[in-house]
Amino acid sequence: MAEAKEVDKNVILLPQTNQLIGLYSIIRDQRTKRSDFVFYADRIIRLLVEEGLNQLPVEEAIIKCHGGHEYKGAKFLGKICGVSIVRAGESMEMGLRDCCRSVRIGKILIQRDEETALPKLFYEKLPDDIRDRYIFLLDPMLATGGSAMMAVEVLLSRGVKSEQIFFLNLLAAPEGIKAFHSKYPDVKIITGGIDERLDEDKYIVPGLGDFGDRYYCI
Ligand code: PRP
Ligand code: URA
Ligand code: MG
Repeated sequence: MAEAKEVDKNVILLPQTNQLIGLYSIIRDQRTKRSDFVFYADRIIRLLVEEGLNQLPVEEAIIKCHGGHEYKGAKFLGKICGVSIVRAGESMEMGLRDCCRSVRIGKILIQRDEETALPKLFYEKLPDDIRDRYIFLLDPMLATGGSAMMAVEVLLSRGVKSEQIFFLNLLAAPEGIKAFHSKYPDVKIITGGIDERLDEDKYIVPGLGDFGDRYYCI
C-alpha cells in the first residue's frame, strides 16, 4: 500500500494515488452537488483519520494466538481527543468516531471575518483531561493558518503540548503551512492536498471553494 510522505518537517501528505486524486476531482468540481460532495469528502476524511492514527506512538505487544503461537504486535499508547474548529471542522467528527469508538470530542468555534479573513474566537468547550490526550485538531481547510493557530493557542492554554497535536485537513495552502509552522513547528500537519496559493480573498487556489457552505448548505 502507498505510504503517506513527510514532504517537509512535520508536514505529512497522503499518498497521491489515482484513487485520492479521483476523490479530489469530484469535490473540487464546482458542479458537484451537495450529496456527492459530502459522500466523497467523507471518504477523504476517513483516510486522513487513518493516517492520523498511523502517526501515534505504539508499544510492542506479544499476542498469544491459537495453539499458543506468538505474534509480535503493537498496542496504542495513550488516549485521543478530537477537537473540531466549528463549523466546517465538525464534518470530520464522524470519520473520527467511525475509527475510535466513544472518542471524546471538544469544540472551538472560530470564524474568519468575511472582509478581513482574520479569525475570531467565539466559544470553546474541551474535556477537562485534554492535557493528557493526543489531539486530532479537525478543520478541512488550512488557508492563511489564522484559524488553526488560534485553536492551537486555546489548546496550549489548557496545558496541551504542541507535540501532542495532529492537525488534520483536506487542503492546505503553502502560505498557511508556512505561517502555522513558523509559530508551531512541532504540530504535525496531516493533509490530503497542498495547493498552489491563496487568492486575493484568501481562498485556496485551485481549492474547492467554501468547504463549510458546500458540506452543509449549498
Ligand atoms: C474556514 C475553514 C477554516 C478557515 C481557514 O472556516 O473551515 O476554519 O476558514 O482559513 P484560515 O486558515 O485563513 O483561517 P470559516 O471561518 O469560513 O467558517 P465555517 O467553518 O463556518 O465555514
Ligand atoms: N475556507 C474555505 O472554506 N475555503 C478556502 O479556500 C479558504 C477558507
Ligand atoms: Mg471554520
